Amino acid sequence: MRKPLIAGNWKMNGLRAGLDEISGMGRAYTPALRARADLLVCPPATLIHAAAAAAIGTGIAIGAQDCHAASAGAHTGDLAAAMLFDAGASAVILGHSERRTDHRETDAEVRAKAAAVLAEGMTAIICVGETRAQREAGRADAVVGRQLRGSVPAEAPAARLVVAYEPVWAIGTGLTPGLDDIAAMHAGIRRVLGRLLGREAAKAVRILYGGSVKPANAGEILALADVDGALVGGASLRAADFMEIAKAA
Ligand code: 13P
Repeated sequence: MRKPLIAGNWKMNGLRAGLDEISGMGRAYTPALRARADLLVCPPATLIHAAAAAAIGTGIAIGAQDCHAASAGAHTGDLAAAMLFDAGASAVILGHSERRTDHRETDAEVRAKAAAVLAEGMTAIICVGETRAQREAGRADAVVGRQLRGSVPAEAPAARLVVAYEPVWAIGTGLTPGLDDIAAMHAGIRRVLGRLLGREAAKAVRILYGGSVKPANAGEILALADVDGALVGGASLRAADFMEIAKAA
């Protein structure tokens, strides 16, 4: 009932020449694959408009990596959700650990941004995840629970809400949690969402795993209950790798 979502986060990578990869993804995104998995690519904001043009007719959706909570105004350098939508984005990643670290984003800020994205009719992908120290201290569940309670808007429509579990220590390191740990965390996230949104709504929310997802490990991770897709960093920059992961879904 939850269609898998394979989302690529290009982070601060990509110039116009890299848009060839989106064309390549489009060619490999066959009707059979389209029926089985949704595909989303989130390039840097500078490429959203051109990426959306490159994705026309392919079925690939284009997203952004952050936005401001306000709809317009005196916020030099920032981008409103409506601007990203206007450029061709239908989803926005929010509260990625790199933004929580680099820009000291708080749960309350992430929630305000998510509310702005949802109000624009777009999909909000809210990222949560513990650090290595927090996991080793046995606090992973508590940390992720607190992030969810602080970051997910109360009235979020389940169909346009996506949660990405990305353990900070698994991002870009080649390390991943054990499959049991991923399954347990995803089940726990759905329980928390049930308390926040109601049990039925929580069943419709897609929960993605992110952190060193590669073609070699995607199959076993995506086969886990409550794992409804992946948020892929490095391996989303190349069409061949990204489409291998999509096929694993
Ligand atoms: P990697 O896939 O490069 O580990 O990055 C994961 C990530 O942060 C996606 O948002």
